[in-house]
Formats: sequence, C-alpha cells, structure tokens
Amino acid sequence: MLRMNASFMLVTLAVLKALAVAQGSNPSVMIVLLVRNKETYLPYTLSQLSRLDYPKERLALWIASDHNQDRSAEILHTWLERYSLPYLSVEAFVNASSPSLRPDERSAVRLSPGRLRAVGDMKQEALKRARTLGIDMVWFLDADVVLHDRSVLRRLQSVRKPVVAPMLRSAGGYSNFQPSIGRTSPQEEDAFPRIYSGRVRGCFAVPLVRSCVLMDLRDPRTASLTFVSQSCELQREVETLDDAVALAISSRNSGLKMTVCNGEDFGLTPVPLSPTQELKDEWQNLLAMKLETLIDHPPMSVVPLMRLFLPPPPTKSRLGFDRIYVIGLGRRPERWRRLKACFDEIGIEAVRMLAVDGRKLTDEFLEERDIHPRGEGRKRFINKGEVGCSLSHYYIWRDVIKHNLSRVIILEDDSHPSADFPARLRQLVDEVDRLRPEWHFLYLFREAAFPDDFEPVEGSEHLVRPGFSYTTLAYALTRSGAETLLRDDPLKNLLCVDHYIPLMSGEVLFSEWMEVYPSAGTLRVYSGRENIIEPVKRIGEHGFVSDCTEVDDLFGEVSYGNEVEECNMETLT
Ligand SMILES: *[C@@H]1O[C@H](CO)[C@@H](O)[C@H](O)[C@H]1NC(C)=O
Ligand SMILES: *[C@@H]1O[C@H](CO)[C@@H](O)[C@H](O)[C@H]1NC(C)=O
Repeated sequence: MLRMNASFMLVTLAVLKALAVAQGSNPSVMIVLLVRNKETYLPYTLSQLSRLDYPKERLALWIASDHNQDRSAEILHTWLERYSLPYLSVEAFVNASSPSLRPDERSAVRLSPGRLRAVGDMKQEALKRARTLGIDMVWFLDADVVLHDRSVLRRLQSVRKPVVAPMLRSAGGYSNFQPSIGRTSPQEEDAFPRIYSGRVRGCFAVPLVRSCVLMDLRDPRTASLTFVSQSCELQREVETLDDAVALAISSRNSGLKMTVCNGEDFGLTPVPLSPTQELKDEWQNLLAMKLETLIDHPPMSVVPLMRLFLPPPPTKSRLGFDRIYVIGLGRRPERWRRLKACFDEIGIEAVRMLAVDGRKLTDEFLEERDIHPRGEGRKRFINKGEVGCSLSHYYIWRDVIKHNLSRVIILEDDSHPSADFPARLRQLVDEVDRLRPEWHFLYLFREAAFPDDFEPVEGSEHLVRPGFSYTTLAYALTRSGAETLLRDDPLKNLLCVDHYIPLMSGEVLFSEWMEVYPSAGTLRVYSGRENIIEPVKRIGEHGFVSDCTEVDDLFGEVSYGNEVEECNMETLT
C-alpha cells in the first residue's frame, strides 16, 4: 500500500468519524478512486462526486494516486482540501513524488504486469479496509467515468444485487461489461449488442463488470470476492488479467452473478487508450464524451474550484469558410443551445439564422412576397413545414449573395458534430478544391435514395458525385452555388428544398419542373463518400422531431394565424 506523501499529510489525514451515526435508509458506502494521469477528467469526475445525491456523511472516500506525470495529484489535493470535510471518512494516499513510470513500465499508456498487480493490490487493500470499518457497500469508481444522473448511487442500491454496475457507453461502442470472461461463445456474443443497444432493458446477469461497480458487503456472498488473481482455467483465455477479470473469476468461483443495468442512460466511459496512443489523446476522448453528453443531457460542468484546472476554451474558427449558418426555429432555442455548446467545445464560430416557422405561415405572408409554393406531380400540396424549411434555406442563399460571401456552411440545428468534424471537413474541402475547384454545393450529410448511387471522383479518397439524395441537414455552398440556386427565382415555384437541390443538380423527378427551372442540372454537387456530420437523432429514434416534415397542415386548405416570424440573423457569441 502507498503511504501518504508528507506534503499531503494534513489534508489527507484519515478523519474517521463515528460510524454509529444515525443510519436511516442510507447504507454507508466507501467510494474507491484510483487515479493515475487523469487530469483531463478529474475536474469533471470530482465535481460529480461533490454533486452526488447522497448524504456525504454516509460516504467514505478511499483514494490512491501515484506515478503521475500530469496534474492529477495537484487536482486531488485541491479538491480534497476544499470538499472532503463532510465525508464520513477520508483516506487518501497521494504520492506526488513517485516517478512517472513503474520499474517495469515503458510508457504510461501500456499496461505492465507490475501495474496490473499494483492496481489489484490497491483495490484489495480498499476492500479490506471497508470490511474492517464495517462499511455497508463499496463503490469502485474509475476516475474517468462520467455519470449523467446524480442519483445513480441510489439507483444502483435499489437494484439489490451483491455486485452491480450501471451500463456505460463510449464513443467506440465499448462498454463496461463483458458477455464472458474468457473466450466468448456465439450465444454470449449476441448478448452484448442486445444489452448495449438497449433492445432489451433492465438488469442482467453478466460474468464481468468494471469501471463503476457497487459491491454490497452486507451480502454474505461477497465475503470471498477478491481483486487478487486466483488460479482458474479461464486465466489462460484472458488477454489481460486485470483487477476486473480477477474479480470476475472470484465471483464465478463463489457462484455469484454480477449485474449490469441499462434501464436508463447512466453515463459514459472513454475508450481505453491503445498502446500506440499518448496521454494527450485523452483530451480528444474527453471532447467526444462532452459532445455525446450534449445529445440528451446538460453540458458537463465543474464545481467552481475545479475551473482552475480546465484548459482555456479552444480558439474559435470558421474552418476556412466566410460564415457558418445554423438554421433553427425561434421556438426551439434548446437546439441552438445544444449545437452552440458543441461548437464552443470544438472551437467553431457560427451564426444563428431564425427559420421561417411553417406553423406560423399565412397566405398573406406568401402573397405579400409573391411566394408560390408548388406541389409535385399529382400531389398539389406542399406542407407548411416544408415551405418554412425551403424559405429558410432560400433566405440564407440570398444572404450569401447580399454579403458577397465566397463560401459558407449551412447547418440545420439538429446537426450533431463529432470531435473529428473539423479535421474531416478540412480533408473533404481540400479534395474538392483541388479536384473540382468549380464546385457549388457539397453535402456534409446526405441520405442517399439508393445506397450505391454515386460516382467516384477520379483521384479522390473522400469525394463523390452523389445520386439523388435527401436532406439539407448540412452542406457547404459557394457564391456561384448560391447564384445558381437563385437564378430561376425559386419563390415563383417554391419546391420542397429536399427536391429542389437534386433537381438543380440534374435529378429530375417531374418533367414539368424543367419548364420552370431552365437552370436545372447546372448545380455542381459533390459529397463526402461518408457523412462527416450526423443528425442528433435519426428518424425513428426516440426523441426525433422533424419540423420540416410535420404533416399536419397543407397549403391551400386552411387559413392560419397572423403571427409571422421573418428570417433575421442573430450573431450570438
Ligand atoms: C512515493 O513513491 C516513491 C517511489 O515509488 C517511494 O519511494 C516513496 O516512498 C513514496 N512516498 C510515500 C510518502 O509513500
Ligand atoms: C465579391 O468578392 C469578390 C472576392 O471574393 C470580389 O472579387 C468581388 O469584387 C466582390 N463583389 C462585390 C460586388 O463586392
């Protein structure tokens, strides 16, 4: 076991309070936190401990940290000094003077036998300590696990299982449970995606959980659990015999089932760094977690004192474009807030353009502006949402001309960028500039009507000439592209923008449109082979709402209220 470093002696002195305080319905829980090179995550994960919905006087902390080469020790020190007072007990072994590598380590990222053994020993030490103190439960929590729900501990307790973990997801499809300890049978193989995807929901017996594990010491079956490797025929099948595998083997040996629960979106765990990566790659992992969190949750945030340890926000850029527009309805400010928060994290400067709200469109509005929505083929109607959408894009194209912008990006506010969006955009734009400098329109996301309907662009890696594609979720546009789109006065025959773009690129659905759009086919459209940005929710997914295809009202049938919101632009910083 590590001993306390002298410089931390004062703050980390174990303050064991009487365990006999009123127990109420809150079992005492020891939180075990092992920290090594986690400066990226610690401000957030320590903040979530501070904010945990559980009485601090029922929580004991057992923290160990050594062999750091970043500010982990300093962050722990600062947090403990300020926030640890109310806890039932605090035992922290933070060694700020241990060398950055263990004797058998070649890098801080690769797992060495010495490291695996040390981690198992520390967890075992914590477990022993909890048993000695008569603590009810132990919560082994990795320092990089992001939990969405402050009441997660109570929820895990309510499952009433000896060893339980909330299912955590990661950007890489990695999770904190395994369908087997050693080799996986085909049947077990199938269990993982079913639980991971949420096709089945609830709590499931699994042979191995890790990263966020609550163990109930009051359950006599947990008495023989250990993190120290025992002999077992399974060991030979296991790639890395780490503490979680050792625990799973001891659990199996004592006939105890571990439980993983996916009843709600509990939280995230980063993809473990591969041996070829470096510690600094954790920043990209953290960014991915922040963006993932924003899909359904408020932004990850820290308690005031931890702000000291956050890096400065990234410098904002327009990624080589003159303007990045985000179209959104005034009545959906939360979408703009979400996308704005993503952009703040990535370092993108965008302007919000209030969309024309289909719900508020009136015949008068259209008449005054000489706008003539036009249905397609036999369907003579275009719905209000579609008209609102089409007009919103139209007004942006006009804005591009008005301000003489040479190239812009246009995003609907349900776009969701991933951490590598800027890099992938740069690759794509470099290619199109090099190979097709006369380009007009570049899909950043599209839904192909027919999956294989595209032509490769010679000499390119990422660029294609797309076939019929739906959606105007995300695209780049040049000034000559905007001119082309406006050439035949689209207000006179306003089509759904989802059909108008293909028409202008030469995908003619109805020949009658050719008569009114002589420029059809002149828009030079390209696309990434793969989408470089995604919608925040796909059609059919829980929480999906489309304002463009609301099918409630059709033009020409009913009259509407008078409240009309015209497009106007806000620059929010
Ligand atoms: C810190 O770690 C170093 C190297 O592992 C060790 O020699 C030293 O005794 C440790 N200090 C404390 C206070 O435990
Ligand atoms: C628009 O910008 C281009 C450079 O991108 C410039 O050559 C042109 O003169 C500008 N046109 C007007 C009307 O300002």
